Amino acid sequence: MTVSLPAESVSGASPSRVSALRAEAEALYLGTRPRTRAAAAATTHLYDGVPMHWMSDWSTPVPLIVQEARGARLTDVDGHGYEDFCLGDTAALFGHSPPALVEALARQMPQGLATMLPTPDAGAVGDLLARRFGLPRWQIATTASDANRFALRAARAATGRPRILVFDGAYHGAVDETFVELSAAGTPGNKASLLGEPRDLTTLTRIIPFNDVAALEEALADRTVACVITEPALTNCAMVLPTPGFHAALREITRRTGTLLLIDETHTLSTAPGGYAALHGLEPDLLVVGKAIAGGVPTAVWGMSEETARRFRQAKQRAADGHSGIGTTLSGSPLQLAALRATLEQVATEAAYAHMNALADRLETGLTAVIDRAGLPWHIARCGARVEVVRAPQPCRTGAEARLAHFPALEAAIHLALLVRGVLISPFHDMMLCSPATTAAQVDRLVAATGEVIDRLAD
Ligand SMILES: Cc1ncc(COP(=O)(O)O)c(C=O)c1O
Repeated sequence: MTVSLPAESVSGASPSRVSALRAEAEALYLGTRPRTRAAAAATTHLYDGVPMHWMSDWSTPVPLIVQEARGARLTDVDGHGYEDFCLGDTAALFGHSPPALVEALARQMPQGLATMLPTPDAGAVGDLLARRFGLPRWQIATTASDANRFALRAARAATGRPRILVFDGAYHGAVDETFVELSAAGTPGNKASLLGEPRDLTTLTRIIPFNDVAALEEALADRTVACVITEPALTNCAMVLPTPGFHAALREITRRTGTLLLIDETHTLSTAPGGYAALHGLEPDLLVVGKAIAGGVPTAVWGMSEETARRFRQAKQRAADGHSGIGTTLSGSPLQLAALRATLEQVATEAAYAHMNALADRLETGLTAVIDRAGLPWHIARCGARVEVVRAPQPCRTGAEARLAHFPALEAAIHLALLVRGVLISPFHDMMLCSPATTAAQVDRLVAATGEVIDRLAD
């Protein structure tokens, strides 16, 4: 059967079918979840009713309250089960509570959680990180936001340069100086969504379109930029993959101008055991990985090349003793080290990635068939186990193009309609992850539910 959506629903202009789908899903959600509603009502002293305000960004009328998350499945307090393809927005990329991690945590927990001193796991973790990601010197942080902040500070200290460069459409966590964007007219400015920031961040941050080699050449020419920070592919708008030759040019220009290159693999760790950079030989000076790197225990890592570490050490020796602005008290804790070791040694294995990628292939094939059958101008973008429906006929090359592929009302209706059919995808855009615990049957359920939802939109 060929179904075609009315043009207005594809453009996300809240047409009647999109609102009908959403209204129907909302009624079903509320009508079948009395405990969820009661638990949500008992959160008077939480701002916005949730422990972290992003949790109210889901499409549900009241938050889904999780009773249990295990492997690639969630169960809510009303007993409804969900195939989880959101996986904590990548924090649970390797599945919820992998048994090897749980065992390692159970071993460590009675022996100290936070000592501000290393345990015997520390050296092993350093070796594992160096082998996997190809950089020789590592530090541990507690979130990817922190790791990016510290790596940028290290880059500035090492080079003695004031500026950084980010690509339009990127997100690197709660790192002040990366909260910039290009307006529709191409003017740099603070992100319109940023709260509580009185400074003009573009004073020290340059921003250019991703995949734009000429703009990069110009932005680095005066040699005042300490560091370019980028994901290998932008994953925080609709997915924007690098165009052929872009990374080679980025590395050549950064080297030629003495600019450090920081690759943020927090999301693209989905690509391969060593992330996108190792798979594609990107040779960064600094590398950050957060979220899933310790299986969901709050942990991030940042690595340096030998030369960057040497220059950073020199800067540290020149500075006065005292607060460096790099590091936090809970970072490098025994708990994090145990979690990192277990995840790197036993969970995020080659075999796990082979499984994740094979299922992501299956998901891509299934979703492509659903999209083609409906004749929709959408396509699938991939970074290994990370699969995204992009609402544009062709790959997006820049953040600006990716913004045009966003249709919030349509997306929210689809997310909620999938959720009441027992499938969870990311609340922010149409992102899905396959974990080592995900099964082919779960993938097939997601594909079938997507087909059903698209058919409902076209009724
Ligand atoms: C690429 C990237 N880097 C860093 C972060 C920040 O991670 P966290 O929120 O865990 O600090 C994110 C969060 O989504 C991210 O997508």
